[in-house]
Amino acid sequence: MNVEIPKVDTAADIQQGEFLLIGCRHGSEPALEIRQKIAFPSFRKSYWRKGLVTFRVPPQTLTDSQWNDFRIPTDVLDNLVFARIGIRSLGQVTGQTDEERVAATHQVLTSIRFQAVHVWKRDPRLKVDTESIHHKLTDSFVSLNKNLFLSTAHLILDCVIDSEDRWWIGVHSDESQASQWPGGYYMNQSPAQKISRAWLKLDEAIARFGIDFNPGERVCELGAAPGGACQRLLEADLEVVGVDPAAIDSQIADHARFTHWKKRARDIRIRNFYGFDWILTDMNIDPDSTITALERILVSPALRPRGIIATLKLSDISSAEKIGQWCASFASWGYQTQVQQLSTGGQEICIVAQKTHV
Ligand SMILES: C[S@@+](CC[C@H](N)C(=O)[O-])C[C@H]1O[C@@H](n2cnc3c(N)ncnc32)[C@H](O)[C@@H]1O
Repeated sequence: MNVEIPKVDTAADIQQGEFLLIGCRHGSEPALEIRQKIAFPSFRKSYWRKGLVTFRVPPQTLTDSQWNDFRIPTDVLDNLVFARIGIRSLGQVTGQTDEERVAATHQVLTSIRFQAVHVWKRDPRLKVDTESIHHKLTDSFVSLNKNLFLSTAHLILDCVIDSEDRWWIGVHSDESQASQWPGGYYMNQSPAQKISRAWLKLDEAIARFGIDFNPGERVCELGAAPGGACQRLLEADLEVVGVDPAAIDSQIADHARFTHWKKRARDIRIRNFYGFDWILTDMNIDPDSTITALERILVSPALRPRGIIATLKLSDISSAEKIGQWCASFASWGYQTQVQQLSTGGQEICIVAQKTHV
């Protein structure tokens, strides 16, 4: 791999435009580039390593007022889909010790005011103590009387650990939910009696997309076994039907508000889907087959739940090219979509579709 390191040395460079740092899941870098070419063809991919891709943004784009105050317009991250977090780069710092790198950070920051500091690793496997670096950075600002909480722009300072001796320094604004989680990593704890990691995935989707389930609503999940997502749905006081030929964990199967339809999705009669407020899908089949399974249900105007939460498994990462097509299917059924690769999921995307006219 030919890695080219862009020259972004000072805050002045970034004020002329320059570089976005995008944090993504390991292995999703090609998918991120596919989305960038479709949605933002004027951006240029530059330096990248696993989990971190930089794009150069042409200066004419940055004259748009939406780019003021070091912000990245929210539609940029939304359209990139595989961007867990986006940062405006101020440059790289290196040094022999944390103290040297903290001092170098002060050099690139000049007069930028920020509200909080996020320290996170490009590669979660790097053996670096982010908590200790966070302390050192925040202490250094306090000792210089730089008030972290004075910013009107709600900026967060990012220190992205690239390797043991090199950090990327940048800033992002705290507008979205995920932008308040260091690195965009969702950190909630799964319950002690967790049935599958799907509990955490759904918990993240609820937080990230602001999904508002109302107690008592009826939800059907296609691909429900062993029952982690259903566990989360039951905790939200919903009435839950799980469709799956495989066995459901007894903790869920025995719950008074749970029903198991022990079949494949296509073997359930359409009329049985009447009256659901939400449909979830998490079947380990290819994305087009999931869309076909949903189409069978949603094509009828009389049978339209108010929301869909669909997990599409991207066994072939190049199928990221088809995201627009899948969203168009939801639009044709009367839904508005938000799409994101979640930080707690696998090689998959989560589409949340909500009815345009209730
Ligand atoms: C990733 S697991 C689902 C995890 C589950 N959502 C949870 O919360 O624990 C995928 C499931 O999809 C189911 N599945 C695959 N094809 C299916 C189909 N055509 N209809 C229903 N379920 C299907 C599999 O049996 C498997 O249990």
